[in-house]
Amino acid sequence: MVEIKKIACLGVGLMGQGIAQVALMAGYDVVLVDIKDEFVDNAYKGIAVGMGKLAEKGKLPVKTPKTETTEAVKYTADELMAKCSKSTDLAAAVKDCDMVIEAVIEKMEVKKTVSKTTMDNGPDHIIFASNTSTMSITEIGKDCGKPGQVCGMHFFNPVPLMACIEIIKGDDTSDETFKTAMDTAKKLPVLRGKRYIAQVMKDRPGFIVNRLNAPANIYLSWAFDQALEKGILPDKPQMLDADIGKVAAMPPCVLSDYVGLDTLLHVMNYNEGALSPDFKPGKVLTDMVEKGLLGRKTGKGFYDWSGGRPQPDFSEKAGIIDINLLFSITLNEGCRILEEGVATGTKSVDDSNMAGMNSPGPFGWGKRNYEKAVGYLNAFVEKTGIEYLKPCDLLISGGFKKMRK
Ligand code: NAI
Repeated sequence: MVEIKKIACLGVGLMGQGIAQVALMAGYDVVLVDIKDEFVDNAYKGIAVGMGKLAEKGKLPVKTPKTETTEAVKYTADELMAKCSKSTDLAAAVKDCDMVIEAVIEKMEVKKTVSKTTMDNGPDHIIFASNTSTMSITEIGKDCGKPGQVCGMHFFNPVPLMACIEIIKGDDTSDETFKTAMDTAKKLPVLRGKRYIAQVMKDRPGFIVNRLNAPANIYLSWAFDQALEKGILPDKPQMLDADIGKVAAMPPCVLSDYVGLDTLLHVMNYNEGALSPDFKPGKVLTDMVEKGLLGRKTGKGFYDWSGGRPQPDFSEKAGIIDINLLFSITLNEGCRILEEGVATGTKSVDDSNMAGMNSPGPFGWGKRNYEKAVGYLNAFVEKTGIEYLKPCDLLISGGFKKMRK
């Protein structure tokens, strides 16, 4: 097994900085790599400020454990930052690295180029782990010369706070690479909850967590369009949200605004190509993005965010969104994930969702309600013709109940 001592964090924007921070906190040597000096300098400063704040709160890792006679000694921010260097030359930077974790822009040709540069210039054993959200790990590694040493390592935002890391096995990823990536990820600290590593056994769109939650957007986009036809939107999003009420931490219109309608549209467009044409975004989403009504980030989406997070009045319901159907859609997708061999069992899907989205997975509800779920889904498909939401065989048979592990 390769021993990982030094990691190159490649592309140190939003995600790369978080990844570098947790890698430093785990005790790894880290080199920050980006395309311009100002980007690596900014990232270095951002990480140093973050470390300083954690030091003030006493949240940096322990350097010398407590003994019977002495207290535990924690690392200082300066000690951890002393293990951090900077570079704008990937070929030179990887020469003494054992692993690259890339978080460069989401473009296939860029990811392919940097994976090849890594393999051409790094030591023989170097591992290339991609934080892509949407791209095929197999394709990223295919032409780099050592596809067995390429895997996915998918973090959630904000990296230091989100417990889930998905480790993805591409078609060519070797067992050794997969295991080394798992072991490395396990060592990365998380500031809230406990680190959870999701094993993604197949390179399929959305991996586990994003895939599980993707088809709910088909339903919600359909519901937005229904609400428009009935004159509920654009003026009364609170009525649609009232259909879900307090069952969810954030009801659909608030959540869509929070995530950003442009992000939702982008994810649906991606899934339209990767999974099914039924992901095609509806009229409401498309028009709102065109008009720049993106939600929280622009101050206006379904709601006006100028006074902070909206607190909708749930007294009148639209009667369009059925929470049971929403649960059924996610349960069905969980079963598809198992059918395709992406996850090892229902527990892994549920735990990944909790660690990646802070929300329970579908199988607890599903065990008791799967027969009803089949009915809800069939009725909806018959009404709308949205074939992607048809119940899959594993859901219909209830066979998922025997697939806990
Ligand atoms: P970002 O735009 O904040 O950062 C990307 C960085 O990559 C920039 O600093 C850019 O200068 C750098 N870069 C571009 N080309 C490069 C090259 N050839 N060599 C080195 N650096 C290069 O993007 P963000 O949001 O951090 O996303 C990065 C990756 O992480 C993407 O693949 C994205 O899909 C994935 N991701 C993003 C999440 C999010 O919530 N933003 C969540 C999970 C994954």
